[in-house]
Amino acid sequence: LRLAVLISGSGSNLQALIDAIENQQLPGVEIALVISNKAHAYGLQRALKHKLPVAYIPWKKREEAEEKIASLIQLFQADLVVLAGWMRILSANFTAQFPQRMINLHPALLPDDGRDTYTTSDGSIIPALRGLHVVEQALERGIKVTGSTVHYVIPEVDAGPVIGRAEITIEEGDTADSLHEKLKIQEHRLIVEAVRAHSQHPPCSGSTCRCDLSVSE
Ligand code: GRF
Repeated sequence: LRLAVLISGSGSNLQALIDAIENQQLPGVEIALVISNKAHAYGLQRALKHKLPVAYIPWKKREEAEEKIASLIQLFQADLVVLAGWMRILSANFTAQFPQRMINLHPALLPDDGRDTYTTSDGSIIPALRGLHVVEQALERGIKVTGSTVHYVIPEVDAGPVIGRAEITIEEGDTADSLHEKLKIQEHRLIVEAVRAHSQHPPCSGSTCRCDLSVSE
């Protein structure tokens, strides 16, 4: 399974994938290329350090950028597109080219069915937070549990079949920064587990999903 990893920033989730591959935790998986819409994304340095092909595609006109990204994915023969901290909304035209071949990591808990609420493992019903700034939103809404989700990408933003989730408890005194740091530690395991699940049973979601994580694990 060849991955195209799309990033916009620090690339710590990309690093988790690189490490898992180097430590033989993802047999049969390799990173074909890393694409960033930001020239100075630290994730590009991480990729170069591991001698991975990288591309910087500026996001001036979405259509042009998407065309370039799609050509690169084809040229580098990537089978799965991984949005790991990718901060741009992709058009329906683009996403339609990768049905069940593109996954997104989102720093909030999302339901299986596009509903507006999510029921946590302890039974509380929380809003499904979509879009940007959801870590801040979790704090503002005063919810007690949040987490991250990996799901297949469909044209609707932050919707689509869920591959896996990791829940975490929001502690009193958590700030957006402290909460995001804790989420990222979970995400680093989650993204690896989600890629593993897809590599073993593509497409992997719903009852076939085997990669839900929780803090206690
Ligand atoms: C992650 O928390 C991801 O959920 C969000 O952006 C962050 C990316 O972090 N969409 P990194 O670039 O992988 O370090």
